[in-house]
Amino acid sequence: MGLYKNDKISGKLMYAPIGVFDSGLGGLTLFKALRKITPHENIIYFGDTARVPYGSKDKEQIKKYTCQDINFLNTFFPKIKVAACGTITSCLNEIYDDFSSPIGVIHPTCLSAVNKTQNGKIGVMCTEATKKSKAYDTCLLRLNSNVQVFTQACPKLVEIIESGKFLKTSPELLDAVKVYVGYLLDFGVDTIILGCTHYPIIKNIIEKVSFGKINLIDSGFETAKFVKERMADLNLINDSVMVGYSKFYVSGDIEVFSKNAEVFLGYNISENVFKININGY
Ligand code: DGL
Repeated sequence: MGLYKNDKISGKLMYAPIGVFDSGLGGLTLFKALRKITPHENIIYFGDTARVPYGSKDKEQIKKYTCQDINFLNTFFPKIKVAACGTITSCLNEIYDDFSSPIGVIHPTCLSAVNKTQNGKIGVMCTEATKKSKAYDTCLLRLNSNVQVFTQACPKLVEIIESGKFLKTSPELLDAVKVYVGYLLDFGVDTIILGCTHYPIIKNIIEKVSFGKINLIDSGFETAKFVKERMADLNLINDSVMVGYSKFYVSGDIEVFSKNAEVFLGYNISENVFKININGY
């Protein structure tokens, strides 16, 4: 899964950074959790903000972008690469074999959902491309063939979040969430997977709309825990006592990303945000 084997060179590899990538801001939900639970790790983040959203694009385009994103991350020789994006994860198996693939968000998220559901009815909120791929359905049913899966594409949410309109609950955002979540509640789900990593950014609104009664599975958080476990298994946890660095690269506007990231992360990262031309990779 995009990891090096636990062999003699892992002693040096543990100091290499973790590479995290997404189409934009969404992967920060994974980054935030990872930063908290692995404070000594160095993390390189790439957000393809010039080309977001991926979820409304066709599969070939998403695969091409994914390869470019990974080519860029590879320039840092990361010890692990993490696709902090449901949409990218949904087509990874068409690009990589199991061993060389980056870690994706779908497996860890589904694992948590099947463990939490009581009535076996699981809702999935995700992008259009992810819904089309049926990647969550396939993974959930592989983990437990008795569950029922209801998938809702939520095309409006990524755009609203990327435009920074998530701090105050705008009527536009609230209405969209009510429609998407309402559809899943009508099926009697007791668990909803936030299957696009952007959605945990508006988790409080989704919680409110679902009356606080539903298990909400945060794909960013679940995957961060999974990444830590994987690193521990492979003896790749950075044993430094220093706090690790975080560097952010984006293909779009630095200021917009920095401003929105600050709202979500709760601290200023602008000194560590850099712009790159992703078309060159
Ligand atoms: N964070 C991405 C995901 O998890 C957003 C996809 C998009 O860019 O539309 O699916």
